[in-house]
Amino acid sequence: MAGLFITLEGSDGSGKTTQIYLLEQYLTQIGYEVIVTREPGGTCISEKIRSIILDVDNREMADVTEALLYAASRAQHVEQLVKPALLSGKVVISDRFVDSSVVYQGIGRGLGIDQIEEINAYAIGKVKPDITFLMDLDPAVGIERKTNQTSLDRLEKEKLEFHYSVYEGYKKLQIRHPERIKRVDATKSKEEVHRQILGYLHILLQRGNEHEASYGDHS
Ligand code: TYD
Repeated sequence: MAGLFITLEGSDGSGKTTQIYLLEQYLTQIGYEVIVTREPGGTCISEKIRSIILDVDNREMADVTEALLYAASRAQHVEQLVKPALLSGKVVISDRFVDSSVVYQGIGRGLGIDQIEEINAYAIGKVKPDITFLMDLDPAVGIERKTNQTSLDRLEKEKLEFHYSVYEGYKKLQIRHPERIKRVDATKSKEEVHRQILGYLHILLQRGNEHEASYGDHS
């Protein structure tokens, strides 16, 4: 698929929003058309699903319902926004994608990685991130940051134990997909984290250019 699909992942409060903003600015300056979006959300329908999922009053929500709602929100997001943008050659930066479901629902809720991958394969079809930046930050620090900034949503209110299993899940996922998921040290300053992200991105863009050049040679 044309275009470039970038996702950011990590524990709550790990600084994804700031990094997405810096990345958007950078890519726009060098001439890319960039769309920033988030999950759950990104489209009108997906945002409505988001508010059901994160509503602190929905304490009785079953884990499977939660997993299917994230996948439903994602299916709409992919169909209505991500896929068309990529097909028209844009860069899409998404705050979270399938990896979040794999670690929060598959590992954190204990529903199983395979089950979550399966329902999400159905939800997203062929759309896959080209690169994913994993913001590595101790979840206790992230939740503390969040608590100081805003009121916590239903997921953020989970016990610290849940957040640690999510954190460990991310590390395992990174080991499983090292070519796509790049670990970023989110304890560093925002400028330093941005530099780490650009370092990985330049390698990807360079490879893309080389691929195009060699493809051109043979055609
Ligand atoms: P997020 O929008 O990152 O929260 P905030 O903007 O408040 O930082 O994500 C909302 C919550 O949903 C977050 O705790 C992670 C969780 N989540 C899942 O459990 N599964 C998923 O598939 C996604 C996308 C998010």
